[in-house]
Amino acid sequence: MRASIYLLFSLLALTIPAHASDELTLVYSANLDGELEPCGCTLDTDFGGILRRATYIDQLRAQQNKDLNEPVLISAGGLFAKELGSDKIKNSFILSGLEQLNYDAIGVQWADMIHGIEFLQQSSLPLTAGNWKDTTLAHNQIIRRDNHTLFFSQWLDPATSPYRNMPDLSPIDERTTALQQQLSDAKQQGMVTVLATTLDHTQAQALLDLSQVDILIIGSAYEQFSEPFKDKGTLVLQAGSRGQRLGVLSLALDDQKSITGWNHQVVELTSDMADAPRLKTWYDNYNEQLRLAFEEEIKKMEAYDQGQSPFVGEQTCEACHQQSHQTWQDTDHAKAYDDLEEVGKAFDPHCVGCHVVGYKQPGGFLSIDLTSQLAGVQCENCHGAGREHVNSGGQIQTPNHALAKEQVCSQCHVPEHSPKFTVKDYWPKIMHGKEQVVSSPGQ
Ligand code: HEC
Ligand code: HEC
Ligand code: HEC
Ligand code: HEC
Repeated sequence: MRASIYLLFSLLALTIPAHASDELTLVYSANLDGELEPCGCTLDTDFGGILRRATYIDQLRAQQNKDLNEPVLISAGGLFAKELGSDKIKNSFILSGLEQLNYDAIGVQWADMIHGIEFLQQSSLPLTAGNWKDTTLAHNQIIRRDNHTLFFSQWLDPATSPYRNMPDLSPIDERTTALQQQLSDAKQQGMVTVLATTLDHTQAQALLDLSQVDILIIGSAYEQFSEPFKDKGTLVLQAGSRGQRLGVLSLALDDQKSITGWNHQVVELTSDMADAPRLKTWYDNYNEQLRLAFEEEIKKMEAYDQGQSPFVGEQTCEACHQQSHQTWQDTDHAKAYDDLEEVGKAFDPHCVGCHVVGYKQPGGFLSIDLTSQLAGVQCENCHGAGREHVNSGGQIQTPNHALAKEQVCSQCHVPEHSPKFTVKDYWPKIMHGKEQVVSSPGQ
């Protein structure tokens, strides 16, 4: 333990550049890409994580004294993994973990919008997008240190926007004028301007006027940081992804706040760096939430394996209600899951619920592999879970027997998904039930 602390301090001494009061130090990163912690499966992969990041930043801040400006802490966003179905538990802990690091500014990338803007709004992080249309996200952050003021903003690329085919719904301004105005105002007020984006350098040059940008952070590289370079008056930075490293940039500035020199270091968050003790509760909570979610899934599977599911599936109903089953078989309800598969949305939790039986309910649909007998809109979507009714040979009524048709249908036929729905028009297309019930199947 003592040895590792020793190592940590010597490491910090090496990696923290010397400061002077007219210098400004920037600690920057981008594209954590969902890597809350290193997997640590091999030494080669044992880099990064929010716990070590906190340790490094705490140490860096602790070293500040009267000759030293507190470092400016910024991120160009890309906090979450890009894959769809990205883990909501993990992502909410990424937000709450970073909250404890006191960031000065965090740019927003499209990947950060994966759970919707409401999800981000729950966080108190200084999230920023210069071309966001309304004020849901801050357009910029103004960061003050002694005799320096820093302006930060982020450009959200319209070309990679998920709204690029739905301009009316797009939350961003595709024109650069508003951002450009913010930058030149900041420059006029003697600020050091930082602009981050996921564009590469050539794209950024083509799209944006960089004459008012002192520091441009371009789209990240895989894992490794690039060496900064000056292009006309702009210093260009490129962070490495996956949260393995931090860029530490010390700037020398002249009276016009132009960059006259810089010192760049890349700090590797290796296993020598202890986990920040002050984030222990946060980390324990994260693991506890994961454990609970895991157990919840297991419980669902076990209940199902032991035949405890309250749902039985349409084939079981068929045994005694052949005519109703025949009618149902020919309706669109029977192929509701196939239609979802056809449009490639069978794995989207926002879609599955109305196209299968008992989604997110104990013993309900889990996946097509595990519970194929519960795919599609079936008898039990409308009549309720049928196991008790079946076990009683039809003596115990089905759960929804007292419900009006309107109530039954409106679980799914809501205006957003079925704007023309009325019971009068729709019921005749699926009408069934007036039949002789076979009360003893197989005889
Ligand atoms: C609130 C319930 C609900 C949700 C959520 C839902 N659907 Fe549907 N879906 C319906 C209903 C009801 C219909 C039948 C609409 C009608 O014909 O009036 C339907 C019909 C469909 C059809 C058949 C269209 C056709 O032309 O036959 C497809 C495909 C479909 N939905 C895909 C999706 C996808 C993709 C999503 C997720 C983005 C989704 N649904 C989410 C209720 C829902
Ligand atoms: C889309 C919803 C829906 C689906 C799917 C559905 N039903 Fe029905 N079912 C109803 C409604 C609504 C009624 C009519 C109740 C009434 O008349 O008030 C009904 C009536 C019945 C009746 C007659 C009830 C009575 O009181 O006499 C039986 C039996 C029945 N359904 C069995 C089934 C079986 C078996 C399946 C699956 C093969 C099935 N239903 C699928 C909605 C549905
Ligand atoms: C073992 C035979 C059997 C099976 C299996 C069975 N039922 Fe029934 N069901 C009956 C009998 C018997 C009645 C009563 C018929 C009567 O009194 O006219 C009945 C009545 C109903 C009714 C009308 C009364 C009520 O409870 O609302 C509905 C709806 C119904 N069944 C739906 C279903 C559904 C849905 C399934 C599958 C989940 C199913 N049944 C499976 C035998 C069965
Ligand atoms: C669990 C969700 C759900 C419930 C409950 C439900 N539906 Fe549907 N309904 C759907 C979906 C999904 C589709 C589209 C299926 C497809 O085309 O893939 C659909 C399609 C239909 C269609 C075919 C539409 C067309 O234009 O051909 C009719 C008719 C219909 N529903 C009637 C009803 C009625 C009546 C009720 C209530 C008694 C009802 N549904 C209850 C989900 C539901």
